[in-house]
Amino acid sequence: MSNPIIKYPIYTFDNQILFPAGSEVSPGNIDDLISTNKNTYSSISLLNYKSVRKDIIKFIRSASSYSVIFGDDKQITSLMNHLGSVTLISPILKMLDYFKEHDYYTYRHHLLVWALSTHIATVMADDYIDLLKEAESGPTHDFGKICVPLDILKKETPLSEKEKSHLRHHTIAGYVLLSYYHQDTDKLASIVARDHHERMNGSGYPRGINLDNRLVDIVIVSDIYDALISPRPYRHVSFDNRTACEEITKMAEKKELHWEVVQCLISLNRKKKSHFTECKIPHEKRGTPPPSNNYGITIRESSQ
Ligand SMILES: [Fe+2]
Ligand SMILES: [Fe+2]
Repeated sequence: MSNPIIKYPIYTFDNQILFPAGSEVSPGNIDDLISTNKNTYSSISLLNYKSVRKDIIKFIRSASSYSVIFGDDKQITSLMNHLGSVTLISPILKMLDYFKEHDYYTYRHHLLVWALSTHIATVMADDYIDLLKEAESGPTHDFGKICVPLDILKKETPLSEKEKSHLRHHTIAGYVLLSYYHQDTDKLASIVARDHHERMNGSGYPRGINLDNRLVDIVIVSDIYDALISPRPYRHVSFDNRTACEEITKMAEKKELHWEVVQCLISLNRKKKSHFTECKIPHEKRGTPPPSNNYGITIRESSQ
């Protein structure tokens, strides 16, 4: 597979250009970039960073479907213990500050995808190392959105093809930024940032690969679920829980998503929780997507 040539620049918060538009993002070029980063960063507990703990609990409690998924106070305490083991380096925490100030939806989304992917991983991860890697990956999956203009992120009407292409830039930008700050291209968090819009059947982006990584899939399913049940700029009415689960089931039926991860999400979604491998998912569709949903709709440049 050839190396991507980026159409838009990749830059840091300090407006330092890591790769200008038109660069080839090859492994060698990323290694060269990493070698220029001589900084050492201190690690900080994400859960104890500013209002993060309070905000996660508030977000979970304010959505009825999340209250079912995350269970009672005892289960939430156990989840908080897992989240408490995650430390992030300071430049990455700046990303959360940026979104909290400029795009609150994306701030909330990062925290909920972090909580949900970690919760699913407590059931599905093979061992504690995988659980920890998973827990480190959710809160930064959309890091590359710092390289997408806010007016595109917050646009309420359909995107143009050019805007859609700029939005999709966040995958490769997130991979480069996280690799640069971690001085390592192999961390799961960087892979998740790059691959969380890929699909098992090759229908995703940026590379259109046949994704085969269950840990990435856990973030993908959490990402889609949170996007569906939350208000978005392009869709003020969110999907109800049943319709969101049906949408995700439909994607698993098309082999876009890993069936077992979807089974796990649905099993957590039920009051009486069974082991995910025993969770039977009905195939009939009864939910109705909300009206005025501009997701996935693009307009031609000339009609703007
Ligand atoms: Fe994304
Ligand atoms: Fe996301």
